[in-house]
Amino acid sequence: MRAAEDMLREAVAAYQAGRFAEAEVGYRQVLRARPTSHLALYGLALLSYHAGAKVQAIDFVRRSLRFEPNVGLTWNWLGTLYIETDRPVEGSAAFKRATDLSPELCEAWCNRADCLIRDRDLDGAAKLLYRALACPLPQSRAFESLADVLRRLGRVPEAAQTVSAWLVREPTNPIALHMAAAFSGRDSPYRATDEYVRTHFDGFADGFDSVLKSLNYRGPQLVTAALRAAASRDSMPLFPAILDAGCGTGLCGPHVRELCARLVGVDLSPKMLHHAQQRGCYDELVTAELGAFMRSRPQTFDAIVCADTFIYFGTLAEPLTGAHTALRIGGPLVFTVEALPQGDPADHRLGVSGRYLHSETYLRRVIGEAGFMVESVAPQTARENAGKDVPGYLVVARHQ
Ligand SMILES: C[S@@+](CC[C@H](N)C(=O)[O-])C[C@H]1O[C@@H](n2cnc3c(N)ncnc32)[C@H](O)[C@@H]1O
Repeated sequence: MRAAEDMLREAVAAYQAGRFAEAEVGYRQVLRARPTSHLALYGLALLSYHAGAKVQAIDFVRRSLRFEPNVGLTWNWLGTLYIETDRPVEGSAAFKRATDLSPELCEAWCNRADCLIRDRDLDGAAKLLYRALACPLPQSRAFESLADVLRRLGRVPEAAQTVSAWLVREPTNPIALHMAAAFSGRDSPYRATDEYVRTHFDGFADGFDSVLKSLNYRGPQLVTAALRAAASRDSMPLFPAILDAGCGTGLCGPHVRELCARLVGVDLSPKMLHHAQQRGCYDELVTAELGAFMRSRPQTFDAIVCADTFIYFGTLAEPLTGAHTALRIGGPLVFTVEALPQGDPADHRLGVSGRYLHSETYLRRVIGEAGFMVESVAPQTARENAGKDVPGYLVVARHQ
């Protein structure tokens, strides 16, 4: 009879080659020969996870930890699984155990900080993120989170220093470059680069919905209400086709779906789109830059919504011209942006949040220049920052 070690080696090789069914048979054989094999239990956890059975994965990881309890990485993964299955208290305890056992594990410190951010304890999160940066291999994520938390705490010079230190370590990192421009006010691109958008949102995709919920985000409700009002003005029960430009994880989808026969989403971030796909309310999802995409689909849509996405553009001429091309005559374009403070003479500015702010005067001008009629530019707030409303505008424009 083969030794358990040989069976385990073969099962791991099958798993690594993507032969999951064979790997499962192998791991179960190992367990019959050696019921305490933590590696076989860990392997079965991985297979459960791949199959989407996260609760079962938790069960296998916990059994694995019973026989090998001192592996920080395994506690860190258990914590992640708890978070993904809405068990934040157990998640937080598992991450704590991970940092106790493996204080050099930057990811586990970041995960602990994320738990505090969700609980709105930003001071506590900043302390943990400084600890994360003291690890031998600090991750980009630790720099990004710390800069963001410090900014939200109003500790802007410290946040800027964090970004400078990050740039020294990773001079070509697109997020560090974008944030350096945001804090310095110099070299701001005319819109966030594709690399920034993809890297930032791919990294943010899994936590996006819960973070936006904690910020009391209501962009989807705002654009949908405005679109519904536009439809009733046109006595139009249903739009044949709507584009959700910068659809992200698809938070607008369930609302807008009720207003149209066909719903298309476009976004640059594949991981955000993966979540939108799982929501199941889009007829088509496209990975593309939204300006280029809209120019490639002339007169295709009867309405366009764009919630919290033009905040990644400084100059709006390009996406607005694209929207004008993609809309059929008379179609409404509804979007949200953040507002420049009164008295700021600029048209738009990249703020320290990494998002662009626009003036009402500029919005009215650029919308008109792109061939739209402005129906309304209403002061509105789509989300909070550190418990305070972020001033913005809800804009309705009409293709003409
Ligand atoms: C803050 S999220 C908003 C997502 C969604 N509209 C919502 O309301 O939840 C902004 C989204 O815009 C996308 N985005 C930003 N710039 C883009 C561009 N130039 N082309 C396509 N997508 C872009 C990002 O990838 C991200 O998913």
